[in-house]
Amino acid sequence: MDVKNSDPIFTDWSDQHTALWGHQPLRLQHRLHTMPLFSRESLAQLIDTYPRDQYSLIHMGGRGGRRFWREGDTGGLPGEAVIDAISKGRMWLNLRNVLKVDKRFADVADAVFEEMAQRLPGFSTRHRSAGILISSPGAQVYYHADLPGQHLWQLIGRKRVYVYPNSPPFLTERQLEDIALFEIEVDLPYEPWYDEHARVLDLEPGQMLSWPLNAPHRVENLDCLNVSMTVSFTNEEIHRLQNLNLANGLLRHRLGIAPKSRSISGPSYWSKAVLQKALRNSRWVKRERNARRVVDFRLDGANPGEIIDAQAAA
Ligand SMILES: [Fe+2]
Repeated sequence: MDVKNSDPIFTDWSDQHTALWGHQPLRLQHRLHTMPLFSRESLAQLIDTYPRDQYSLIHMGGRGGRRFWREGDTGGLPGEAVIDAISKGRMWLNLRNVLKVDKRFADVADAVFEEMAQRLPGFSTRHRSAGILISSPGAQVYYHADLPGQHLWQLIGRKRVYVYPNSPPFLTERQLEDIALFEIEVDLPYEPWYDEHARVLDLEPGQMLSWPLNAPHRVENLDCLNVSMTVSFTNEEIHRLQNLNLANGLLRHRLGIAPKSRSISGPSYWSKAVLQKALRNSRWVKRERNARRVVDFRLDGANPGEIIDAQAAA
């Protein structure tokens, strides 16, 4: 496959990028969008066989605001019809865990991370995952922060990404704990004046974005169908920070103790690593997360972009 050829996947990486990587938002050029694997036709075939438990289809409702979001089902439509519906509607489809579902994408990710390891001294990963996000013209991803390292690879269409500093008031330690404990990364408070402090970067096919760990961001699609790949990773440091945030969240919310340390080494860290392991799957945590996932619509094959209530259709 073309990923095996020796051309670099990053096509404009310089020493300056190596110096800035992880410290500043960075937009780099890549060639994934020229690979047949990432063509619309190939992605339509991927949708055709994608496991039901590995995708999310979200409808954004008629107005802005996430309280109108509804989760649905492709209704078994062919992949090309699904993409057509998204291009005419207000939806997004997230094909999660694509590295596990289809080995061809894992091969691409291997090549990407191998190149990063060559260009970034000491860079290694402990865990990797990726998703393909297909979204409607004008769709938005609201202000949020992610715990793993993340990159956004643009494949089809154009989007505008706002990246904010990973420090107060844009992001606090307590918010990081809450994200780890409650898995509520999209509940971060956002004020329009934050935008004065954002780096605003437009992405087109053949560009990717990296940003400092946990930096809050939000995304606006421009007026076209968008396909991007989100790549997440952890390394030893990120893994320990996730354990620390979860443990500090448990101390604060479950045990009523204000955490004093954010160290990721020494006795304080290791006792927290034990604490979070003991409690992370407890009934209390599960109840608090209370992640309700209700499928309540499916795509309307006769009217691309429209949806049918699952109850009405049943
Ligand atoms: Fe994100």
